[in-house]
Amino acid sequence: MVKVTVCGAAGGIGQPLSLLLKLNSKVSELSLFDVVNVPGVGADLSHICSDSKTQSFLPSSREDKTALAESLKGSNLVVIPAGVPRKPGMTRDDLFNINAGIIKGLAEGIAENCPDAFVLVISNPVNSTVPIVAETLKKNNVYNPKKLFGVTTLDIVRANTFISQLFPSDTKPTDFNINVIGGHSGETIVPLYSLGNSGDYYSKLSSEEKSKLINRVQFGGDEVVQAKNGAGSATLSMAYAGYKLAESILKAFDEPGVIECTYLNLDSSIKGAAEAKKLVGDLEFFSLPVELSKEGIKEVKYELLTKINEDEKKLLSVAIDQLSKNIEKGVKFVNN
Ligand code: NAD
Ligand code: LMR
Repeated sequence: MVKVTVCGAAGGIGQPLSLLLKLNSKVSELSLFDVVNVPGVGADLSHICSDSKTQSFLPSSREDKTALAESLKGSNLVVIPAGVPRKPGMTRDDLFNINAGIIKGLAEGIAENCPDAFVLVISNPVNSTVPIVAETLKKNNVYNPKKLFGVTTLDIVRANTFISQLFPSDTKPTDFNINVIGGHSGETIVPLYSLGNSGDYYSKLSSEEKSKLINRVQFGGDEVVQAKNGAGSATLSMAYAGYKLAESILKAFDEPGVIECTYLNLDSSIKGAAEAKKLVGDLEFFSLPVELSKEGIKEVKYELLTKINEDEKKLLSVAIDQLSKNIEKGVKFVNN
């Protein structure tokens, strides 16, 4: 029996993500929470003849905490795409003032109603919203760093697609699983194309082509924001990416060796986290590949940090500098 709750289920990401979760045979109960429109989304999804039960929860007023509590109670996994998306000209950090409070409120609900759940944070700015969830759970004495995930999967999805587009006759996007490390905004996104099976293709590119490719992964979100022209940011590719991480986590409940990149707290209770932390300027949060298990993150695969080339080291150093500020901002929001 696995209960999954989506907070922000009526949104642009929330709806397709909930649809994908509804189709996963491991999910027995799908709980949908939003502050608008969620009864309609719930009624619609509930007609699908998959085996999970669907329920929706809408607060009756701003003060009503019962709907959130009911939606979360007994959840094994909570996915959070709640909050506002960017418009052209905005950075993800510009969303902080609105989304920080939303995320803190949802994290308080999780602390009270399903403290053992896996928590997957999609809402931007991820570099700061994940520390907000961590600090809120800590304050409530229920924090387990092994179960907190910042969703950076869309960066990997883009990295795989974009390199394949450069070698259309030799490759397919599914040939690749690029490690993209760091954070989830602009220059904090560091794709490691030199490693693994992308290395040979990447080495065929000129310096200019390499820079263009890296830049496209780092600023891929802007392509969608501009194309949507004020109507939001990536939703469908994000729902796919968020589902991919959730699916892997559910798979790892029964299978060993499942690995995904995620933005995690490099807490010393996690195997490999202390070693990783030393290699990333002592940052508390960073995206790296991790091995998953039923108990959460089993191990951080930090060794790739010792294999990166000189160009990637430079990208890493820029990412570290920006990330430290983003992390501090999230931590301060909860503690001040
Ligand atoms: P959206 O506006 O379409 O949907 C957001 C939903 O959140 C809305 O339905 C809204 O009612 C709901 N909401 C607001 N406050 C809430 C609360 N307190 N509790 C529950 N629900 C609440 O936005 P979207 O396009 O789905 O994007 C959502 C977030 O995801 C944005 O912050 C966006 O920047 C982020 N995002 C992250 C990634 C990533 O890679 N991590 C990718 C794309 C978008
Ligand atoms: C993305 O990478 O598409 C998301 O973070 C949304 C955004 O604001 O670009």
